[in-house]
Amino acid sequence: MSRRVVVTGLGLVTPLGVGVAPTWRNLVAGKSGLISTTSLPDYETAGWSQIPSKVIGKIPEGSIKDHQWSSEDHFDKGEARRLALFAQYGLVATKEALLDAKLSNLDGINKEKFGVAVGSGIGSFHDIYDNSVSFNSSGYKKVQPLFIPKLLTNMAAGNISIKYGLQGPLHSVSTACATGLHAIGDAYNFIKNDYANIMVCGGTESSIHPLALAGFARARSVVTDYNEDPKKASRPFDGDRNGFVLSEGSGILIVEDLDHALERGVDPKDIYAEIKGYGLSGDAHHITAPMETGEGAYLSMKMAVERSGIDPNEVDYVNAHATSTVIGDRAENNAILRLFGNTKKELSVSSTKSSIGHLLGAAGAVESIFTIKAIKYSTIPPTLNLESVGGHKDDQAENFTKFDYVPNHSKEKEVKYALCNSFGFGGVNSSILFSKFA
Ligand SMILES: *[C@@H]1O[C@H](CO)[C@@H](O)[C@H](O)[C@H]1NC(C)=O
Ligand SMILES: *[C@@H]1O[C@H](CO)[C@@H](O)[C@H](O)[C@H]1NC(C)=O
Ligand SMILES: *[C@@H]1O[C@H](CO)[C@@H](O)[C@H](O)[C@H]1NC(C)=O
Ligand SMILES: *[C@@H]1O[C@H](CO)[C@@H](O)[C@H](O)[C@H]1NC(C)=O
Ligand SMILES: *[C@@H]1O[C@H](CO)[C@@H](O)[C@H](O)[C@H]1NC(C)=O
Repeated sequence: MSRRVVVTGLGLVTPLGVGVAPTWRNLVAGKSGLISTTSLPDYETAGWSQIPSKVIGKIPEGSIKDHQWSSEDHFDKGEARRLALFAQYGLVATKEALLDAKLSNLDGINKEKFGVAVGSGIGSFHDIYDNSVSFNSSGYKKVQPLFIPKLLTNMAAGNISIKYGLQGPLHSVSTACATGLHAIGDAYNFIKNDYANIMVCGGTESSIHPLALAGFARARSVVTDYNEDPKKASRPFDGDRNGFVLSEGSGILIVEDLDHALERGVDPKDIYAEIKGYGLSGDAHHITAPMETGEGAYLSMKMAVERSGIDPNEVDYVNAHATSTVIGDRAENNAILRLFGNTKKELSVSSTKSSIGHLLGAAGAVESIFTIKAIKYSTIPPTLNLESVGGHKDDQAENFTKFDYVPNHSKEKEVKYALCNSFGFGGVNSSILFSKFA
């Protein structure tokens, strides 16, 4: 019999707060987690001031009591020094997800079938930069012994496995901005194929660094139009969209074989959602630019829907990848139009990047959690800053009339089936279809 895969635990570290509850509360209230680099203490000294793009989504610093980030709340000094920031975010989100899944005690769980699939798009940008600079200015002796292990993209996964003694599949995908969603898809397949009963999965990223922002700015990927008004900078599907906002954080899910969850005593009403189908494809077109028709996104969404055994008519909500770039949002919208353009009931499409920016390798995992919460709590988070949907001069306005883009305010709506999209540089497209657990 085919195994059913369900989600039993969630953990988040985002620009809207440390923890799932504060992040979700702020998200549905329409808050923005975006700030200006001009408020950073090292704005002049670290090179931020040279960069034309000034808006970022940073984890707020402070005490965990206020749902903010401070390493000392989670790690002693020695441990913190050995852990790259992206691994720290991943470990903190994992702890919350395990607790949420009632797995703070792992006695009696078969750890050989408990795996980890946590990826990162970039790994530790900070360590690469610091060690490059030290090597050049002071030579070999100033290269840190932990430089290599700290920078590797799979080290968050390694650290999670070591900390909890998880001996099942230990995997770490890195597909740029599709990483987080691919990691969940990998975990789903490991469970479906009986390599594991239960997995910690998701993505983590900590690339808020002036060199990273400089690189994205040189590639003309990040927004430059709203430096004075950071909360308006991320505006997916809006006529004035002009680039994405670089953000950081982590999203971690516990995904599990349904029987395994029930046997260890999980109450069915505590199951968040079921993973029904996973789709992935390549645009086969260009390293960063989409095809106008949205071919790759169309194929990945179609695969996820078909593998779920449902009809496109049944989908209630799409959490779009839409990063607030001119051509990316348009292509994704065209792909959604192609797959869902003839459905009878109203489809809601929102992009939560309007609130938190683009978390790169963590984006797909964080947004999957938002998609799951929308299903569980019948509340769709909004697309902020939507003044004129499809209003860019090269948009075709009538291509934006078919769907409800959930402008500005969250919306109460029963969601049975929802799709989460994630795309990445290199031309990768991926989608997961989640359903209400019944
Ligand atoms: C360090 O940088 C200087 C230029 O500032 C360059 O000439 C030199 O080759 C570099 N040294 C190393 C070891 O990379
Ligand atoms: C995590 O990985 C680092 C290397 O990046 C290592 O030094 C540290 O001991 C590990 N910590 C745990 C808890 O696994
Ligand atoms: C598919 O992924 C590529 C790579 O990021 C992206 O450029 C393209 O926009 C995606 N397709 C659509 C329709 O969004
Ligand atoms: C959303 O808010 C903007 C102001 O930020 C406003 O111009 C726009 O009309 C609002 N959209 C809707 C559909 O209410
Ligand atoms: C609008 O949608 C049509 C049909 O889906 C598509 O062929 C066309 O390329 C789209 N126009 C733009 C400007 O994206």
